[in-house]
Amino acid sequence: MRLRSIKNADERLIEHPRIVHNEKENRGKWKEIFDNDNPIHIEIGMGKGQFISTMAKNNPNINYIGFEKFTNVLVRALKNLNEENVNNVLAVRMDVEEILEVFEESEIDRIYLNFSDPWPKDRHEKRRLTHHGFLERYNSILSPNGTICFKTDNKDLFDFSLEEIEKHGWKLKKVTRDLHSSVYVEGNVMTEYEEKFVSLGMPIYRLEASR
Ligand SMILES: C[S@@+](CC[C@H](N)C(=O)[O-])C[C@H]1O[C@@H](n2cnc3c(N)ncnc32)[C@H](O)[C@@H]1O
Repeated sequence: MRLRSIKNADERLIEHPRIVHNEKENRGKWKEIFDNDNPIHIEIGMGKGQFISTMAKNNPNINYIGFEKFTNVLVRALKNLNEENVNNVLAVRMDVEEILEVFEESEIDRIYLNFSDPWPKDRHEKRRLTHHGFLERYNSILSPNGTICFKTDNKDLFDFSLEEIEKHGWKLKKVTRDLHSSVYVEGNVMTEYEEKFVSLGMPIYRLEASR
């Protein structure tokens, strides 16, 4: 996502009540931070935040935490995160390479990966968010019944992910190569990228994986 830089982006993140800055200190304490015992769902690569803020509004009994690597992108999510009376969503500016430092074992219940960067070159395979290096980290922080939900427009990334997920002992379910013509579209919340690809008539690939 190439975006022009926004003035005072860092300051705007620091001042915003929904942005967490001491995420590693919260390891093992996220339920205390939300002040309830509700399940915790995270989105990795939340972009401008339309998906996670809508999910939080629609599901007040679930807590959401979005992760985004770039300040310049996250700052564009602040308006979405500011929804009045929605207290169950937080966001962190961070590369999820370090996710094990943020959650302890079994601390979260679901991971959303929406339109993750495809990293098409073989030599960048390890950066794909469904590479087994990431799957191992997800396995550690997800609760025993925890799930990964993955959507993409990218056929090659989807094929890679299917293979990677099965090869490493996860169970696949609700797999479709055309989400918007499938039964799984019910209750689907669209991301910014998804809206763009759907408007171009492109199919959306989708899967769920659990241990
Ligand atoms: C293609 S965009 C999709 C944004 C949004 N999920 C959507 O569907 O509209 C991918 C986003 O993931 C972020 N991202 C990629 N790798 C990441 C990582 N390792 N940690 C955190 N965010 C990451 C990128 O900065 C970018 O904003």
